[in-house]
Amino acid sequence: MFAERVLSGMRPTGLLHLGHYHGVLKNWVKLQNEFPCLFFVADWHALTTHYETPEIIEANVWDMVIDWLAAGVDPSQATLFIQSKVPEHAELHLLLSMSTPLGWLERVPTYKDQQEKLSEKDLATYGFLGYPLLQSADILIYRATQVPVGEDQVPHIELTREIARRFNHLYGREPGFEAKALEAAKKLGSKRMKLVLDLRNRFQEQGDEAALEQARAMLGETQNLSVADRERLFGYLEGARKLILTEPRAMLTEASKMPGLDGQKMSKSYQNTLSLRETPENISLKIRKMPTDPQRVRRTDPGDPEKCPVWQLHEVYSDEKQKAWVQQGCKSAGIGCLECKEPVIDAVVRELAPMRERAAMYSEDPTLVKNIIADGCERARQIAQETMRDVRQSMGLSYT
Ligand code: TRP
Ligand code: SF4
Repeated sequence: MFAERVLSGMRPTGLLHLGHYHGVLKNWVKLQNEFPCLFFVADWHALTTHYETPEIIEANVWDMVIDWLAAGVDPSQATLFIQSKVPEHAELHLLLSMSTPLGWLERVPTYKDQQEKLSEKDLATYGFLGYPLLQSADILIYRATQVPVGEDQVPHIELTREIARRFNHLYGREPGFEAKALEAAKKLGSKRMKLVLDLRNRFQEQGDEAALEQARAMLGETQNLSVADRERLFGYLEGARKLILTEPRAMLTEASKMPGLDGQKMSKSYQNTLSLRETPENISLKIRKMPTDPQRVRRTDPGDPEKCPVWQLHEVYSDEKQKAWVQQGCKSAGIGCLECKEPVIDAVVRELAPMRERAAMYSEDPTLVKNIIADGCERARQIAQETMRDVRQSMGLSYT
């Protein structure tokens, strides 16, 4: 059993909203208590689609980190950093690119999907094709075991697993492994050595498990082998490789149930968001303006909560008693829509109050945030450098 390590990244897309909070950040806040966590700003990933407007990236990076902190991500528990401040990600991306078949990248569903969705942009670029490979490097460089992501990102984690497996297969051997194994085999004496090598061939070429078992048993019985030699020979029998990179698992983040102000999914592109820094006045204003059941034109018309986006907010924020009050009051025209909205407004104001406060504190003192990130980058970089030493060595690039 080896230690778990959680890693996730987010592209800097500007001020975060309640959809991000209920979908992603609440989960990060929970995970930071349970595992060592690394969370980073994927600024290079933002450039793959926004290479023509790099000026939007810097402001967004800081605003996003402030929003993470505001939401309760705790820099004394989790490591927070910026991707481009750990240039080792780029080195690993380059080295992985050498052996990554083009077809693997072309087949990733987001490649075609995003090109179609963002058709106003030219995404027939080298960088965009490499998007998921850069993500693989992000993950593998920390030997992360768990990657919390949404459904759409699962193919990227699958690709990462394949990339790790291929890397270990190609490079996961100690230098001179073969020679050392043969040297060890000689200690068996020529007759037994020949038999072991034959059995190995039968297993590796024909998948003959019984041959493998027989060879293993023979090595087990041999007295004059050192532990290291026996291990080497066991590895040699199976064609085992040393694991340099760790295969991660996707930790599926449940889709946010947070509806936008119009009942569609909350998203910046629909302009239906409540940002994490929304003032109480604005929260009230925006929710009071929300559309309700279109059949409920007059106060005296009964309504149907199922046809009303405000009801979806009650589903997130209200307890059973309050939900019963809405159902009953709406269907009987016993309550007005503004009345119905009041408890939701209160709940959102209450939820966002501590976040607004923390965001204000960090915005007023940018050095605070810069220090948190500098510290996180340093910690992240140490892990990344350790992995890169192993990677370079296994690829014959250490020149020591
Ligand atoms: N592609 C991810 C997204 O759009 C962001 C990301 C980049 C990421 N690198 C990562 C997520 C590594 C998890 C792990 O959401
Ligand atoms: Fe929607 Fe509430 Fe008005 Fe019913 S009473 S239509 S649930 S806002």
